[in-house]
Amino acid sequence: MNEPRFAAIVLAAGEGTRMRSSTPKVLHEVAGRAMIAHVLAALRPLEPAETVVVLGRGMEPVARAIAGENPAAQIATQDPPRGTGDAVRAAGALLAPLLAADPEIGDIVVLFGDTPLLQPETISALIAARRRRPAATLAVAGMRPADPGPYGRLIGDGAGGVARIVEARDATPEELAIPLCNGGIMAIDARHAFDLVARLGNGNAKGEFYLTDIVGIARSLGMSCRLAELPAEELVGVNTRAELAAAEAVMQTRLRRRAMAAGATLIAPETVFLSADTVLGRDVVVEPNVIFGRDVTVADGARICGFTHMHGARIGPDAIVGPFARLRPGAVLEERVHVGNFVEIKAARLGVGAKANHLSYLGDSDVGAGTNIGAGTITCNYDGFGKYRTSIGEGAFIGSNTALVAPVSVGDGAIVAAGSVITRDVAADAFAIARGNQADKPGRAAEMREKLRRNSKR
Ligand code: UD1
Ligand code: CA
Repeated sequence: MNEPRFAAIVLAAGEGTRMRSSTPKVLHEVAGRAMIAHVLAALRPLEPAETVVVLGRGMEPVARAIAGENPAAQIATQDPPRGTGDAVRAAGALLAPLLAADPEIGDIVVLFGDTPLLQPETISALIAARRRRPAATLAVAGMRPADPGPYGRLIGDGAGGVARIVEARDATPEELAIPLCNGGIMAIDARHAFDLVARLGNGNAKGEFYLTDIVGIARSLGMSCRLAELPAEELVGVNTRAELAAAEAVMQTRLRRRAMAAGATLIAPETVFLSADTVLGRDVVVEPNVIFGRDVTVADGARICGFTHMHGARIGPDAIVGPFARLRPGAVLEERVHVGNFVEIKAARLGVGAKANHLSYLGDSDVGAGTNIGAGTITCNYDGFGKYRTSIGEGAFIGSNTALVAPVSVGDGAIVAAGSVITRDVAADAFAIARGNQADKPGRAAEMREKLRRNSKR
C-alpha cells in the first residue's frame, strides 16, 4: 500500500476482567481467529517498519498466537498493567532506540488488541489525517457508536481539532452527552510520542495512566491534535461476551459478502458461518446452515449441501458434500468426490470421483479414485491406544456395513461383500467376504409363530 513509514504499538496487556474468562481477552476468537491476530492482519498490508505488542505477565499463549500471525512482531511486557498510557511507555523501552536508528519512521500508531473489526484503510486514513499539511502532532480516531456508553468522549477545541479526551468514568453529565467517542486508535508524531507519555499522571477514577490524557498534555504544550472521524463499525472494542458476539455478527456479514463477491453462491447467507481464512472458489454453491470452521478451502464448482460442518478440509473441484456431512482436519476430497449424509471424514484422502454417500466414518485412510464406499462402512482406526491407517485402492467396491479393521489395505478393483469385518489385507481384484453364513429353514417362521401364540394364551 506504500504507506509512509510508521511503527505500530498494539496494546494487549489488559486483564480483560469484563470477559470473565481464564483466557486472555485478545485470544478470544472472531470468525475462528484470535482478536489480536485480526489486528495484526489489518496491519500487514501497511507494512509497518516495526510492530510491538504489549502483553502482561503470564501471557505466553498470546505471544505464541502473535508469532503465528506475524513472526517479526516484538513483544514488550507491561507488569503490572497500569493503564493504556503506561502500556505505551512499556513499548517505548523497545521502540525508542529503533526510532533513533531510523529517523524515517514518522508515526507511532497505537492500536488496541480488542478491536478485531479494524481494516487497513482505516489505519491509513488515521495516518494520513495526522500528516495532512500542516502536520499535526496527534490524530485521534473519532467515532459515533450507537451506544456511546463507556467510551471516552472527544472534547472539541471549537476549531475542528480535539482539546482533550475524557474517560466516561471521569466525565460530567454534559460531557457524557457528547456523541463523538474515542475510537482508541491514535497516530502520534514519532519525535514526541514517548515524551508525551512520560508526562502522564494517574489522578483519575481508575488510578491508571490513560493514553487519552496525552491529547490535553500535547495541547498544553502548544501542539495540535486532529480529529479523524472513522467508521464506528470498525472501531468498536470488545470488552464483554455480548460485544464479542456483536463483533462476530459484523465479521460474518463481511465474510459472506466477500465470498459472494468472489463468485460463490450462498443461498441463505445469514445461515452460513465462515472463518476468517475460509476460501471458496468460483461457482461454489453453499446451501443453508453450513459451518466452515478454520482452514477450509473449497475449489471451483463444488456444492456444500445443508447442515454440513467442516474444519481443516480441502474440497476439490465439483465435489458434492452433505447434507449433514462432517469433515474434520486432514480431510482431502479430490475432484468430483461425493460425500453424503451422516458421513464423517478425518485425516483421509478420497481420490477423484470416489463416493461415500451414506452413514460412514473414514478416518486415517486413503481411498483411491473411483472407489465406492457403501452405506455404513466404518474404518476401525483406533484400538484404544494407537491409530492405524486403512488404504483402499482405485476402482474398489466396499459393500454396505463393512468394518475395515486397521491397519488394513484393500487393493485396486477389489470387491468387499456387504457386512464384512475385514481384518486381513485384500489383494487387487480379489473378492473378500467375511460374515456369518446364512441358514434358511423352510416353514420355520410359521411354526414359531404358532408356538408363540399358544404360549401366550396359557
Ligand atoms: C479505551 C479508551 C477509551 C476508548 C476505548 C475504545 C483509555 C484510557 N480509554 O477504553 O477512551 O473509548 O478504549 O475502545 O485509553 N491495555 C494494556 N495495558 C493496560 C490497560 C489496557 O495493554 O494497562 C490494553 C488492553 O488489553 C486493550 C486496550 O489496551 O487491548 C484497551 O484497554 P481497555 O481496558 O479495553 O480500554 P477501554 O476501557 O475499552
Ligand atoms: Ca476496550
